[in-house]
Amino acid sequence: MVNNRRILLIIGGGIAAYKCLELIRRLRERGNRVRVVMTKAAQQFVTPLSVSALTNERVFTDLFDLDDEREIGHIRLSREADVVVVAPATADLMAKMALGLANDLASAVLLASDKAPVIAPAMNPRMWQNPATQRNVTQLKADGATFVGPETGEMAEAGEAGPGRLAEVPELIAAIERTTTAPASALTPGPLAGRHVVITSGPTHEPIDPVRYIANRSSGKQGHAIAEAAVKAGARVTLISGPVNIADPDGATCVHVETAAQMLAAVEAALPADIAIFCAAVADWRVANRGGQKIKKQKGAEVPRLELVPNPDILATIASLSKGRPGLVIGFAAETENILGHAQAKLRNKGCDWIVANDVSADSGIAGGVMGGDRNSVHLIKADGHQSWPEMGKDEVARALVEQMANSLGEDRRSSKRKPSATGKAGAK
Ligand SMILES: Cc1cc2nc3c(=O)[nH]c(=O)nc-3n(C[C@H](O)[C@H](O)[C@H](O)COP(=O)(O)O)c2cc1C
Repeated sequence: MVNNRRILLIIGGGIAAYKCLELIRRLRERGNRVRVVMTKAAQQFVTPLSVSALTNERVFTDLFDLDDEREIGHIRLSREADVVVVAPATADLMAKMALGLANDLASAVLLASDKAPVIAPAMNPRMWQNPATQRNVTQLKADGATFVGPETGEMAEAGEAGPGRLAEVPELIAAIERTTTAPASALTPGPLAGRHVVITSGPTHEPIDPVRYIANRSSGKQGHAIAEAAVKAGARVTLISGPVNIADPDGATCVHVETAAQMLAAVEAALPADIAIFCAAVADWRVANRGGQKIKKQKGAEVPRLELVPNPDILATIASLSKGRPGLVIGFAAETENILGHAQAKLRNKGCDWIVANDVSADSGIAGGVMGGDRNSVHLIKADGHQSWPEMGKDEVARALVEQMANSLGEDRRSSKRKPSATGKAGAK
């Protein structure tokens, strides 16, 4: 089984493209996430709508889609996959790959990829046997690609037979499974093995109209670092991130959201969890009177007034769940003054177990600032006291926090062996 793997499927413009719909279904049945890039020609054979319905994801088709470049981009598309599969691989697409061309999204993703692809060719036997195609196949094999098929048999065109049929779906799945290593979390019997950790990260964007939004300076670096550290500690990690410009951490299931309301919905959908860490800088307010169209600047007209309403409080909502509350609920507090005082009040008001407070003021002393920077200086506040950690890298903060989380769950397990917990709350101290 390739369970939990992120598969990037590149569909080329061949008649066998329809078989990819079945491939997607079978891969998803096995617990994989499938993202799809379709060439322009592929869209003549199957619609992005069908593919999107089966993957439950948007389909990527255009290299010059600005939204994609900002949100994800051709580099990240392949980097965020555990395995890249080209099926059906057309003669044309293989020629581009062998030459290193990158003039559409599919070829650009393949050229920018850090993984050797699994290639499943499908074409007319004469196209396959053509010396040009065979030269390209030899080159691609030398470059490290794994080939599956083509099989020999009847072709879709009447009276044509020979090598060129797309490998059957079970063969494709077997090849993908052979190529894909097990998820990092399955390989690491770390201190959080068997635990589900939900983490929010990054800012939220609250729309003013279709082109403008309210946001903040959060980069997502701290939340993503915690996700990475939790994966390394063996946890199953769900990372729910607002719009950021950094890559999804390997081994985590990542959900991308924009607004606070979407973030709350994604957190609720991700539960149950053993630990929930709310590191995202969620906007406190959203615009009640947002424009359905771009708000126009009109000469002499009044400046528009934005009416703000409070956003849902994700930390307080989850910390106060009477059923299904994660055992350990951790909030982050970004403060610019009276850091400990505000954070201690937040711990009481929100009903969470720990608060990680960081000084995001301009005079925090951290070069480049905490928001967007790589370093952090935090206080960890629990009901029975606090620790002030020295300035360190966000990855070190993440590792230290994960260590404390693992200790807390370990202590809880030990104390629940002695005396069963009345509340079932693992981390409340
Ligand atoms: C009806 C039809 C079927 C085709 N089937 C194949 C095929 O099975 N394999 C192939 O390599 N090309 C096939 N082609 C040619 C490709 O669609 C063409 O080379 C296209 O440029 C490939 O684009 P892509 O590699 O960007 O997907 C077919 C073309 C048509 C019109």
